[in-house]
Amino acid sequence: MGSRFDEMRIFSGNGNMPLAQLICDRVGVPLGDATIVKFTNENIFVKLNESVREKDVFVIQSLSTPDLSDRIMELLILLDACKRASAGRITAVIPYYAYGRTDKKDQPRVPITARLLADMIQVAGAHQVLTIDLHAGQIQGFFSIPMDELTAMHLLVRYWADKGWDDVIVVSPDVGFGKRARNFAEAIDAPLAIAEKRRVQHFGSHAGPHTSPEILNLIGDVQGKRCLIVDDEIATGGSIMEVVRLLQREGASEIYACCVHAVFAGGAAERLQKSGIREVVVTDTLPLPPGKRWPGLTVLSVSTLIGEVIQRIHSGISVDTIFTQHKHPALG
Ligand code: R5P
Repeated sequence: MGSRFDEMRIFSGNGNMPLAQLICDRVGVPLGDATIVKFTNENIFVKLNESVREKDVFVIQSLSTPDLSDRIMELLILLDACKRASAGRITAVIPYYAYGRTDKKDQPRVPITARLLADMIQVAGAHQVLTIDLHAGQIQGFFSIPMDELTAMHLLVRYWADKGWDDVIVVSPDVGFGKRARNFAEAIDAPLAIAEKRRVQHFGSHAGPHTSPEILNLIGDVQGKRCLIVDDEIATGGSIMEVVRLLQREGASEIYACCVHAVFAGGAAERLQKSGIREVVVTDTLPLPPGKRWPGLTVLSVSTLIGEVIQRIHSGISVDTIFTQHKHPALG
């Protein structure tokens, strides 16, 4: 099928340059030439060094740490620059959507920052959004423009299915992730256990209010089994560590973990490395500099998935069929 647009351009902010380059390699176009600078007054300036007039423009930006707020501003400013340069269509490609956990008003006088971010992305000029494994699917509804949410779970499924283990049990780190963990367990033909986690809110520390996970109970029998903890993201690693301790108490023989988004904040990588988890498998939706890598970490790339979807969007071909090709049916 032909494209509405003669040409495509792909630009990237500083959120995950290595991934943006891999995506461009996969699509077969050079990374667009843009200047992004932060002045001494901390204002961010963007200049597109090539024309985007009437072109099909993709702006890749993972909302990564450190300097998350800068990454958000870079995305918004890049979108604005594309809009003001008369791009034909602008797709914001956001491999990791930050603030996904602030998606509802679950206590008085709190914001819904995931919605605020969606509003800003639309106002800045995005005509559509492409993202991977949102923390909560309903964030799709915060956008009134087309939104394609891809899943990278099939990459993880294939990795573990290839091990051919017959004594593995999938462990969901909390009840909220239970449905997705059940689909994952079905896809690798394994049983499921669920850790019942509650977050305890702490106020008044010098770092401000924060929550810490506290595991209460395990639903399922892991005695003598290989346990595979599955989650959408590992941030501080607090949740995973609680689950590891619980599984060790319950007699698990070996413990493995995987997630899509390796946020690895505040010493998480070091904690995971020392945790006794035999292997941690993640994707590259977020950058993983050497300090966040260790021999027991395996990184699977989402570049082929995103590249293929970008080509389909550009050519006006259904994105859905990519999943019937690549995705295990149980992950629906
Ligand atoms: C929670 O609802 C999520 O699924 C993850 O379990 C959570 O984001 C992980 O955060 P942390 O690693 O800081 O415990």
